[in-house]
Amino acid sequence: QTKMPRATLPTAAVNAGTVPLPPVTFLFGTQTGTAQDYASQLAGQAKNFGFKNVKVCDMDKWEVLEKGKYNVPKGSSDRRELVIICTATYNGSPPDSAEKFDKFISDDSNDKDRPMEGLLYSVFGLGNKNWRTYQQFPTKCDNRLDELGAERFFYLGSGDADKDMDADFHEWCAHFWSHTLIYFGIGTNPETTSLVPTPSKYEDPADKLEVQIIEKSEDAKCISASKNVNGEYNAEINVNTELQNVELSKRSTRHIEIDISKLQSPNTDKHRYLAGDHLEVLPENSDMDIEKVALGFGLILDSVFEITNVDVTTVSSRSLAVAIKGPCTVRNALKYYADIYSAPSRYMLAYFAARLQKTHPDVAATFSDVIVPGDKGQAAYIEFIKEHRNLLDLQRNYPLTELSLKEFLCAVTVMQPRRYSIASSPLKNKDSVHLAVGVVDDVMNNRHYPGLTSGYLANVQPPCPLRARIKSSKSSFCLPSDEKTPIIMIAAGTGVSPFVGFLQEREVLKSDAEAHLFFGCRHPDQDFIYRDVFEGYEKSGLLTKLYPAFSRYGEDNPRKYVQHQIMANAGVIWKLLSQGAVIYVCGAGAMSRDVRRTFELMAKSFGGASTDEEATELLNGLISSSRYNEDVWG
Ligand code: 2AM
Repeated sequence: QTKMPRATLPTAAVNAGTVPLPPVTFLFGTQTGTAQDYASQLAGQAKNFGFKNVKVCDMDKWEVLEKGKYNVPKGSSDRRELVIICTATYNGSPPDSAEKFDKFISDDSNDKDRPMEGLLYSVFGLGNKNWRTYQQFPTKCDNRLDELGAERFFYLGSGDADKDMDADFHEWCAHFWSHTLIYFGIGTNPETTSLVPTPSKYEDPADKLEVQIIEKSEDAKCISASKNVNGEYNAEINVNTELQNVELSKRSTRHIEIDISKLQSPNTDKHRYLAGDHLEVLPENSDMDIEKVALGFGLILDSVFEITNVDVTTVSSRSLAVAIKGPCTVRNALKYYADIYSAPSRYMLAYFAARLQKTHPDVAATFSDVIVPGDKGQAAYIEFIKEHRNLLDLQRNYPLTELSLKEFLCAVTVMQPRRYSIASSPLKNKDSVHLAVGVVDDVMNNRHYPGLTSGYLANVQPPCPLRARIKSSKSSFCLPSDEKTPIIMIAAGTGVSPFVGFLQEREVLKSDAEAHLFFGCRHPDQDFIYRDVFEGYEKSGLLTKLYPAFSRYGEDNPRKYVQHQIMANAGVIWKLLSQGAVIYVCGAGAMSRDVRRTFELMAKSFGGASTDEEATELLNGLISSSRYNEDVWG
């Protein structure tokens, strides 16, 4: 991870116990809930270390923003208030819950007033290295708070979701607390393992959780698929067909059509969605697995409970205890909320470790060993989750049965929605979106491990309700407003989805602008998804040219990737670029990095760049003027 040089640290370390510890606020800027989870984990750790005045708060709801200035409390000692920010970034922009914060720190007319003077701060940024904009917003926060008068207390941490972000976070936490404890004179250099809760100093969040068991309840009032979170998730699957030749490829990609007429739209535009937007999908767990989990934990599926009080500074914000709001049956908690297919999180293992310390110290020790921060712990964690891919594996191998419902709600994480690029245009499909979903099905030790969302989508029979909502790409991946602009589309696998949408749009608009599509897959007879559609568009002239690249096309053919096709057609591409063409790249991170490198090479051969730096600069110029656009995933 990128470690910023440590700033000169304040030296006023005070002796233990003589001055009260200062208030500490953990701010989060979150898109999918992970930054919030990290903020709440840090808050829990702060409490364990003896901090009393601990707050967790959305960045945009931070009171200092409202007041426009931090007012140093009267009579405060030299133990200055701490503000720790955990924030993600989306395509270089702040997450939705940090837009006001961003506006505030962007206004440099504030600089001379030094409105943050008197605060100590530190930032942990979450992101994915596959994005060119990795850590852009957290870095901005880190720099700007300094310029606004606050004092950097600890170096900027960075978590990379492409690798093991939790490990990055835990490592940073260990260093952060080490520094903090010494600075405030709470103790000498703490063992890094002090982050792993031990019963003596561990407050069980379940003790603070208030859960009411509802004896007789009308089912109608309970959370269910259509009435969960709120009305915005109310979609319906109408079509679910196969796109690959499964017999030959042994893999599956589903074409799914979803009625969205009852969904709220994030766009102010007259259309419910735009080509290039995403659909966020929430899966459901299978009845068979729900029963296994319930049986394993001794939970009664039809009992109804309601969480009446939860302290978000003691329990992870990603736990079921925080996510479920309203009366719910255990069955629906397991079906719609519990993440039972992902790798057991360090948070969950820490919870179980603390919980099992008395009754099963050996198991507690096993769990504790795999969650210690640092390289050794990380290697142990990776080995552990190879054998224990999900909660079901964990349950099969360890005595987790003695958990109460409250403990279960605190320990188990809520499932994360999955985003898919939409493969349709609202001009052609007003009330429905199409998706191409690559089905994940790993086999390990003779067991199948289906992908959480793709496994669910692969098996649903239409028509059936779907919890989904539209996520706007916020114009970061959309067709040029001038429909005469030539476009060059580059994709591998299901990355081709948004381009199906782009072409549908240009079809309706009867566009005669040039459109070129580079598409990579394994074999023409196996996974060349939407082949008929693209060949049809090529025939009609809507698609100027289709350039397929096959990576596993028999022994005699060399492995070909999209970047090879791009290089082979570099002259055409560069000519189009000089005519104002816009480039789009969609697919896995490795592909997008290689394609970017290919464009840098072309910038040297065709674009007049004489050094690598000039080539990168040329490409960065294209990116910042939205002439080169990426939609990539890990
Ligand atoms: P492979 O799996 O045969 O190596 C869709 O997944 C297609 O993208 C496949 O043909 C895959 O090839 C290819 N692919 C894998 N890595 C790539 C990379 N770094 N750049 C471009 N294409 C890649």
